[in-house]
Amino acid sequence: MSTDQTPVQAPQPPKDRKPVVIVDDVHVEYKVFATGKRPTAADRRSKVLRGRGKQMRTVHALKGVSFTAYEQDSIGVIGTNGSGKSTLMRAIVGLTPASRGAIYASSRPSLLGVGAALMKDLSGERNIILGGLAMGFSMDEIEASFDDIVAFSGLEKFIDLPMRAYSSGMTARLKFALASVQTHDILIVDEALAVGDRKFRARSEARIREIRDNAGTVFLVSHSMQSILDTCSRVIWLDQGTLVMDGDPEEVIDAYNEAQDK
Ligand SMILES: Nc1ncnc2c1ncn2[C@@H]1O[C@H](COP(=O)(O)OP(=O)(O)OP(=O)(O)O)[C@@H](O)[C@H]1O
Ligand SMILES: [Mg+2]
Repeated sequence: MSTDQTPVQAPQPPKDRKPVVIVDDVHVEYKVFATGKRPTAADRRSKVLRGRGKQMRTVHALKGVSFTAYEQDSIGVIGTNGSGKSTLMRAIVGLTPASRGAIYASSRPSLLGVGAALMKDLSGERNIILGGLAMGFSMDEIEASFDDIVAFSGLEKFIDLPMRAYSSGMTARLKFALASVQTHDILIVDEALAVGDRKFRARSEARIREIRDNAGTVFLVSHSMQSILDTCSRVIWLDQGTLVMDGDPEEVIDAYNEAQDK
């Protein structure tokens, strides 16, 4: 066992709430082609021009992460760029396979990310219908919640325009509005709120609290400590693929900020 690491605070398991996600010693390794280690300028030129020197490199993005999420937990996930947050979220939804360890979930988690697929050439309106169908709703069900989705997104004036004409914040609003009609037992939000304006962020945060209050479990990946403090009951801090701390939002965020200032 290494002794130079900060010990992970494992919070006491809550007595009356069921575990919904168990992450057990999860490792994720990406295999990528790299162009080689720190070439000289001349080297670099010849490599770029001739496309030479590709070699397989392994990026060890998660190095043995373990924790248990319970119902009604809303877990903020923090850490510097490249610390493994999105990798962990993608592993929980099953999009990225774990190379070691295991993940158990009591129901299928849904990931709401900036990457969720919408069709740029179609109008917001048609994207709501297609997105709804993709989520398994019938046409009647989509019709019934259509106005709510549009109202939540606040895009009434733009709903008949192709999404190509939307700003990134407007796109994020539509995605969040669409995803929030579904009842989620386990919802994962990876940076999707970051591009929304203050009013929309407040509305989305209220929605996250509502999901949590309905016995759901929410993971919120964010670089906004304020969003995390406003919505989360627990915070996980990842650093270089390792879980550094898991516990009370204020305590973890304080320790994280302190480490950043060093
Ligand atoms: N598809 C991929 N192929 C190869 N390496 C990847 C891939 N996705 C992520 N990585 C690497 O895995 C590590 C963790 O990346 P990840 O995207 O999980 O970080 P993150 O904490 O979400 O960062 P950010 O705050 O920038 O979103 C980084 O070193 C990154 O370069
Ligand atoms: Mg990320």
